[in-house]
Amino acid sequence: MLTPNLTVNEAGHLCIGGADTVTLAKTHGTPLYVMDENMIRENCRGFEKVISEEYQGRGLICYASKALSCMEMYRIVDSEGLGADVVSGGELYTALKAGMPAEKIVMHGNSKTNSELQMAVTHGVGRIVCDNLPELERLDKIAAASGKTVRIMLRIKPGIDAHTHDFVKTGQIDSKFGFALETGEALAAVKAASLYPNLLLVGLHCHIGSQILDTEPFAEAGRVMIDFMNRIRSEFGITLTELNLGGGPGIRYTESDDPKPFSEIVRAILSAVKESCASAAFPEPFVLFEPGRSIVGGAGLTLYTVMAKKEIPDIRTYVLVDGGMCDNPRYALYQSRYEALIANKADAPRSTTVTIGGKCCESGDLIGEDMPLQDAENDDILAVLATGAYNYSMASNYNRNPRAEIVMVRDGEARTVVKRETYVDIIRSDI
Ligand code: LLP
Repeated sequence: MLTPNLTVNEAGHLCIGGADTVTLAKTHGTPLYVMDENMIRENCRGFEKVISEEYQGRGLICYASKALSCMEMYRIVDSEGLGADVVSGGELYTALKAGMPAEKIVMHGNSKTNSELQMAVTHGVGRIVCDNLPELERLDKIAAASGKTVRIMLRIKPGIDAHTHDFVKTGQIDSKFGFALETGEALAAVKAASLYPNLLLVGLHCHIGSQILDTEPFAEAGRVMIDFMNRIRSEFGITLTELNLGGGPGIRYTESDDPKPFSEIVRAILSAVKESCASAAFPEPFVLFEPGRSIVGGAGLTLYTVMAKKEIPDIRTYVLVDGGMCDNPRYALYQSRYEALIANKADAPRSTTVTIGGKCCESGDLIGEDMPLQDAENDDILAVLATGAYNYSMASNYNRNPRAEIVMVRDGEARTVVKRETYVDIIRSDI
């Protein structure tokens, strides 16, 4: 199995975190997102353990909630001592409503609106990561009008090619996020930020991309950022005290994926940071990390009901399910690959090769192509694995499909944490 929390019981049913997925599908309906709470918590602790072992705990893990944002997720990560990275007023609102302390929230966004900035300032968000010069200008005015000094970081493009899908690369120069190092833009931004009377520049941020399988690009980012902080000290006499290295560790989506464990990645970054600090005699900064996928991705799966099978001779066999790009747009967007199995025949060999098609009125609405699967029959329960990140959070109401329910499983017991939308929800904003 892809992750150790997945097992098969004596009935031949797939279980996650000790709960029988076939029973979950019957009780809660499909499509259904199922999250394993213990695995989420273990991942949170895994990150914190590295920071405490390698860096005397001088850091904060801020769960990147864009991966999966709902009130219960903020409660879980908060109870594990993590903060949260939010990237919109909606995520910020959800985090605050769930009781996440504002000072442990990092606010992101390359096009934050004035009302989002105002909300962050009013609630006293711990750090706002500023992306561009007009934002600095607007934030300074908002801070002044609110009578507050706002702690900010600047988002830097460190110029690192992290070898992942083009759409999720963010650290290279041709990116809409942040200030470029190579062109001098970043240095000028530091100077500009340091002059605003109501902004307190505490440090820098970078995020080199997502689903990165290797340690080296991360370590390189650590070195580049410390070099830059050292340069800022010599040019302007400003010693920044915080470094936020973003998220990005990859997970195992298919049996053939071999990502470096996130603990190894964080360890590599921290040792690069420590070495660079030592060689430049620069004080080791407080560090922040923003993992999303590596906290929730492998902890989730999605259950569907098989509605029909279409065999097109000499071409392909479609297995059609009751969800699709409306609950998981990642194949349509990035051709992301997943493992799937028939949950009620999980002990049978995956002897067929199929294309899994969704219910949306769109030919590209697929969960995947050329996927090994047990012989599917109507009303079987199909499980798609490792869907915990960027599935629910990227879901839509396309074709006015109600968004699916999320259940959280803990020690075999399941509870609903996000209700299934109804048709009444679907028309709630219509006039
Ligand atoms: N911090 C920042 C500033 C980010 O932009 C992101 C992700 C993260 C942290 C979390 O990265 P993670 O640890 O989850 O890789 N929708 C795409 C992924 C987009 C990621 C965007 N930013 C997907 O489904 O693969």
